[in-house]
Formats: sequence, C-alpha cells, structure tokens
Amino acid sequence: MPRLNENYLNIKESYLFAEIANRVNAYSKANPDKKVIRLGIGDVTLPLTEDVIAALHEGVDEQGKAETFRGYGPEQGHEFLRNAISDYYKSYNVDVDPGEIFISDGAKSDTGNITELFASDNTILVPDPVYPVYVDTNIMSGKNVTYMSGNAENNFLPMPDDSVHADVIYICSPNNPTGAVYNKEQLEKWVEYALKNDAVILFDAAYEAFITDPSLPRSIFAIEGAKKCAIEFCSLSKTAGFTGTRCGYTVVPKDLKFKNSRGDDMSLNAMWLRRQSTKFNGTSYIVQKGAAAVFTKEGMEQCQKNLSYYKENAKIISETLDKHNIRYFGGAHSPYIWFECPNQMDSWDFFDILLNKVQVVGTPGAGFGENGKCFFRLTSFGSHENTKEAMERIGKLLETL
Ligand code: MLT
Repeated sequence: MPRLNENYLNIKESYLFAEIANRVNAYSKANPDKKVIRLGIGDVTLPLTEDVIAALHEGVDEQGKAETFRGYGPEQGHEFLRNAISDYYKSYNVDVDPGEIFISDGAKSDTGNITELFASDNTILVPDPVYPVYVDTNIMSGKNVTYMSGNAENNFLPMPDDSVHADVIYICSPNNPTGAVYNKEQLEKWVEYALKNDAVILFDAAYEAFITDPSLPRSIFAIEGAKKCAIEFCSLSKTAGFTGTRCGYTVVPKDLKFKNSRGDDMSLNAMWLRRQSTKFNGTSYIVQKGAAAVFTKEGMEQCQKNLSYYKENAKIISETLDKHNIRYFGGAHSPYIWFECPNQMDSWDFFDILLNKVQVVGTPGAGFGENGKCFFRLTSFGSHENTKEAMERIGKLLETL
C-alpha cells in the first residue's frame, strides 16, 4: 500500500473557487429560472484580440505543413516570445534578459511549482488575505507559512517587520484579492529587507497591465537590487484574456544566487531551468505564437482597449459602493474591488445572501484568509450589462440590510 502525502490533510477539501462553483451550481439546479450573475472568480469575458487570433491561426497553419511543422520546442520557451517579452519590459524601463524569462502555461502553475526550489524548513511569509495558491502549494509540500497582516489600517499593504525573519516572501501587486498596489518606496523597503535577511521575494505581477499610473512599479525589477533577491511571475490571463488559452512567464534573474549547505553558490535560474526541462516540455508552439502577438505595439493597444472596458466595470462597482457608504479598496489599478461586508457580516453569510436574494456571485473574503472574514471581493471581468444589473440588485439589497 502506498503511504500518501498526508500534507493534503492540512488543506481544505476543495479549492476556494471550486467550492464557490459547487455552491452556485447547486443553487442554479434548484432555481433554474433565476439569472445568476457571476462576479466571483477573476475570469475574463471578452474574446481574444484580433491580432492574437490571427497569430494563433498562423501557428495552426504552420503546424499543418512539413516545411514549417515544429515538434518539441525549447522547455524555456521560444526565443521569439522571450525576446518580445524582454522588449516589453524595456518599454517601461526595466532590463530583463531573454535568458532570464521562462514561458509557462500560467502564473498559477509557476507560483505553485516554484516551491520545489526551497527546502521545507524555510520561514515562508505570506500576506493575509492572500491568493490561496501560495498557501495551499506550500502546505501540500510539507512547508509551514507565517502570515503578515494586511488590514484596512495598512491599506492591505503589509510592510516588512525587522523583528520577523523570513526566507521566502510572497508579494502580489496589484494585489489579488484586495486590488491594493505597492508604490516604489514601499517596494524599495521590501527589497532592502530581503537583501538584509538573505531572503527571496516571490513577486506575483499577474495584474501589472492594469497599472496606469507611471509612478507605480509594474515590476519588482524596477527596484534597484531586486535582481539579487526576487523572482517575478507574470500572466497573459488577465492582460490578454488567456484564461482559457494558457500562457504566462516567470523571470528568474541570473544574479539570483544563494549559498547551499556546502557553502557554494547555487543559481536559481539554473535550478529552475533544470526543473522545467525535467518536468515540462514547454508551452504549445501555437499558443506562444498567439502570445507574441500581445507584445507588439498594436497587440498591446488591443489588449489595453479590453482592460479599459473592465475598468469601466470597476467604476460602476465603486460608484454603487460609494453611494451606500461602503468602504472599499482596489478597482483603480486592478480588476478587483475589495469591500467591507455590511454591518461587519461574515463574508460567507453575505455570499449566501447575495446568491439567494439577488443572484449575484462574489468571492467571500474568508476564502483568502482570516483578515478577509468580513470582506468581500467583486471582479470587474463581467460584461457592462451584467455588471450594471448586478450592482443595481446589490444596491437595492444594501438598502434593506
Ligand atoms: C481569482 O479569481 O483569484 C483568479 O482568477 C484566480 C487565478 O488567477 O488563478
């Protein structure tokens, strides 16, 4: 009989968004005549852009001809895409070498898989509230996490505490779930702390394309010294509507090295390449063709048009909350709006009320950690029509609570 990985006993039975989907499906089955509006999981609704579609078609056609057919590609990703991403970084004055970029099927897999590079006895610091993948993947591999408090007082942007030692630090900015964004001075403090403590920052930048204020860093590598202490995770899911198409990239700097127990330097770039080439055969060529079309000037303009559409929705959500004097965070440089449940209500109770009374689905803050238990997250990824309708329904409900 195999002995099982009993770390799985230490995580919840189902993943947050699977649990929400189960509850919503049960409701819809019992109430087939009700129109449910889903503003829960951060899944995009606009189709892929024109240039991406054209490039995907081109990729398919190439795979259909002997002269252009490609089999296995480089595990790290095709050079044409890594060069395009390196140029994209240059467009906002960040220097990333194509050899530091690893193409993957998305940031979720990479933020989870990266845990393999770290031993179990590290002190792993995660914010609370937090994207559940960071916590669950560490627990699955037998690691413990230490929480740092994000709360209304610090605008959900926890800062380093010199009295706490950490080896691995997760930071997500713009933040999922709160929509909060670190400014340059705040990220400088994190980099300073990481360098002082010989720690590594795992920086999730999946929502960087939502930042429009040029003073806010879109990459941890905009901060001096970060190449010696940080790994960055990016995704085309939200930037370019790739939630179903799947493509992301991770930047592991060549300067990122730590001493092993023998006193020798180990390169995280070399370790990640070793890991990826052993366990991953690369993202599909066709998808990488489509992804490269995101990074041209026209391609990015097309994506930004879609992001503006979602930002309009964020405005619709914020306006309703303003009208009802509900305190909220995010929405400006992020697709997420994070607000206080009315009357300090428990967030799962509020979830049930929203679903049962007005048929709107959101995400209960409790799913992201203890500090989220009286908060609630709505996404701006719906259609204008549905977002307007959902906020009208929520507005009416708030008047009765
Ligand atoms: C979310 O809703 O938090 C995201 O869609 C999850 C993800 O990107 O995996």
